[in-house]
Amino acid sequence: VAPDRQEYARRWRLTAADPRVVLLDGFHAVKHALRFGADVRLVLTTDRAGLRALSRDMAPDIAAPLDTSAVELPAALVRTLVPKADPTGVVALATRPDDSALAALPRRSPVVVLDHPRNLGNVGAVVRLAAGLGATGVITTGDLDPWHPNALRGSAGLHFAVAVARRERDDLPAGPLIAFDPDGDDIRSIGVPDDALLAFGSERHGLSPDLRAKADRLVAVPMTAGVSSFNLATTVAMGLFHWLSGRAGGC
Ligand SMILES: C[S@@+](CC[C@H](N)C(=O)[O-])C[C@H]1O[C@@H](n2cnc3c(N)ncnc32)[C@H](O)[C@@H]1O
Repeated sequence: VAPDRQEYARRWRLTAADPRVVLLDGFHAVKHALRFGADVRLVLTTDRAGLRALSRDMAPDIAAPLDTSAVELPAALVRTLVPKADPTGVVALATRPDDSALAALPRRSPVVVLDHPRNLGNVGAVVRLAAGLGATGVITTGDLDPWHPNALRGSAGLHFAVAVARRERDDLPAGPLIAFDPDGDDIRSIGVPDDALLAFGSERHGLSPDLRAKADRLVAVPMTAGVSSFNLATTVAMGLFHWLSGRAGGC
């Protein structure tokens, strides 16, 4: 391997060691990060011609900056840096945004609260929903890091399109708290205000007693008799879509 390639690998290792830096694995994650203004520090590709073709077909808006910033390295060397890199062979490192201003964000759309989620794939899917449906952000309680690489993979890099943060249950932003639980009132009987917090329980244990007690409303998405619950991310989709459906202007 030529020395300049080793220099890029060295720079990657150094940057990746910074705790504020997150891994973007795959073309789509890097595309969304660039499109939504992430501070992308290093981009590697194992196949520049393939990267150009993907950009041309799927992201002409960021094709030029991506081509300029990407460094082509042999796949074997990239595997030493990211052992299970996405098949597109595109990986990047970006700075995780500061989330301290979350409470002060203007609230024109709900914030999703995931109460102690256990599955990083669900967290990523919910961030992607929040970005796609125009929510303000996603807050998680509990010990999982919502910026974990597996959550970023699940969101296809859309963490950079909305606010994503971990908080304690007693440190949530202001706003009416609407908690989702299969035993609640039919969601169709209420309107969801734009400044609502929409709270969802963990995959195994449901809502914590703490959030249940704090909730202004407990609501359910109706289910056919005999079905005990929906998957967490699909319930978030239905909750956000219910909010959106009640809104005059749409997304
Ligand atoms: C997989 S469910 C958890 C099931 C859990 N065994 C329980 O006891 O609630 C994860 C979360 O999705 C939401 N959820 C799932 N189905 C729902 C429904 N039909 N109505 C409202 N919320 C639902 C709730 O917030 C729930 O805590």
